[in-house]
Amino acid sequence: MARIKVLFVCLGNICRSPAAEAIFLKLISKRGLQDEFIVDSAGTGSWHVGKKADQRMRIAAKHRGINIESIARQINKKDFEEFDFIITMDNSNFNNVSSLRNRESSKGNSKIIKMQSFTSRFKFHKEVPDPYFGGEDGFDNVLDILEDSVEGFLKSIHSV
Ligand code: 4NP
Repeated sequence: MARIKVLFVCLGNICRSPAAEAIFLKLISKRGLQDEFIVDSAGTGSWHVGKKADQRMRIAAKHRGINIESIARQINKKDFEEFDFIITMDNSNFNNVSSLRNRESSKGNSKIIKMQSFTSRFKFHKEVPDPYFGGEDGFDNVLDILEDSVEGFLKSIHSV
């Protein structure tokens, strides 16, 4: 069976999308589904390409037993052909990813979906907030939102 390919996307690929990737990897591993998926993350911007995730996010995630190991990269047009699902963190990411696909007139069939459409406990947040310029508690808040919505995403595509 073909693996389901999932790409999580934020702006810098050093805070939200690497956290979403690591949370999803942990979840599918816990459920024994790791061989059914290919999981990655990327940013719409290029400032942090080649860097590890933000240390504040890595530490906050580690406290929950989540290891963030990804190295930042920028989304590119091949991703639209490669991935089945492209999950964006905020409205700006969603608009940028959508217009990149239109601009590149990609042949891909990937579904571009907002992460917040999968939340059950954080419906009052319309986006996954960008924690980069905020305080330490912003990272825990993002992790709370992501743990909830990543589980909702898995439920929506996989009957487990
Ligand atoms: P992310 O957070 O999109 O969740 O990775 C950000 C990281 C870096 C910047 C903005 C947001 N930046 O402006 O450098």
